[in-house]
Amino acid sequence: MSLNDLTLNADIVAEFNKIFAGYGLDLARYKPAFIKRRLDRRMRILNISDYSQYILALKNNRKEFEEIFTSLSINVTNFFRDSTVFDRFQLSILPKILSSLGDGNKIRVWSAGCASGEEPYSIAMMFKQAIGKLSNLEVEIIANDVNKFAIQFAERGRYPAKGVESLPPSIILNNFQKIRDDNNNIEYEIISEIKNMVTFKVGDILSDTMQSFDVIFCRNVLIYYEKEAQELIFTKFHRGLKNSGYLVLGMDETMFGRRCQKLFNPLMARERIYQKMLQQDN
Ligand SMILES: C[S@@+](CC[C@H](N)C(=O)[O-])C[C@H]1O[C@@H](n2cnc3c(N)ncnc32)[C@H](O)[C@@H]1O
Repeated sequence: MSLNDLTLNADIVAEFNKIFAGYGLDLARYKPAFIKRRLDRRMRILNISDYSQYILALKNNRKEFEEIFTSLSINVTNFFRDSTVFDRFQLSILPKILSSLGDGNKIRVWSAGCASGEEPYSIAMMFKQAIGKLSNLEVEIIANDVNKFAIQFAERGRYPAKGVESLPPSIILNNFQKIRDDNNNIEYEIISEIKNMVTFKVGDILSDTMQSFDVIFCRNVLIYYEKEAQELIFTKFHRGLKNSGYLVLGMDETMFGRRCQKLFNPLMARERIYQKMLQQDN
């Protein structure tokens, strides 16, 4: 029997979930086809032909655990991913946020599913550039991810040259410090002014109950989730935003369904920027 013929039923998913318990990854919410593709890929590499055998391998092999955990939590990302989204946000949304600030003079942003930190640091760089020397203004960015390895990497704030050197020189100059790693390779470290704007935490969007955000960035996270879980998350985000707050999704993500249409207004359809609506009862 080939791997393609193997069925990934709910019992097997529950077995995998037991292994990932405590790491915040709830596979029951993921699209089954996505989980199967990731598992089958690793099993092919290890020459394993059934899920029970692979579960055993995971229990006994820490490295394989980290491998599949990272693969299932797909943490591909980069600085200023889809730069037009950041450009439009900075040009059209950020001034609105600044002009509607209340007494607190604090802007709160949530980067939900932040992977290795490039997204929240990009947000911090964008705000720093836009706000400049408005010294009485505080920007607090909370960044979370289920993947604790990604969060550990993000907190360190050191990135290989490859992911940084393609950025505009002024961004590099103002936000990074060039350093060498233990093997004398060039790395770029985020400067402390930017690091201090971001607080990282290991956490699951589905169970976090954070509130009072001006903006939530949740980009390239929801595509892997079943429609039901997506709707649950949109409802959470609606609750987590201040009135008229903004939600930014990934370029391949959309908000569908009648329920969601009552929660958010699509402000910039191409860039997937939405604004919270005050909910009307039926
Ligand atoms: C493809 S990365 C996207 C990173 C970044 N937002 C971007 O657009 O470049 C998806 C990240 O979402 C995280 N993730 C998936 N489900 C999550 C959940 N329920 N709660 C928190 N993070 C989650 C994964 O661990 C992964 O690091």
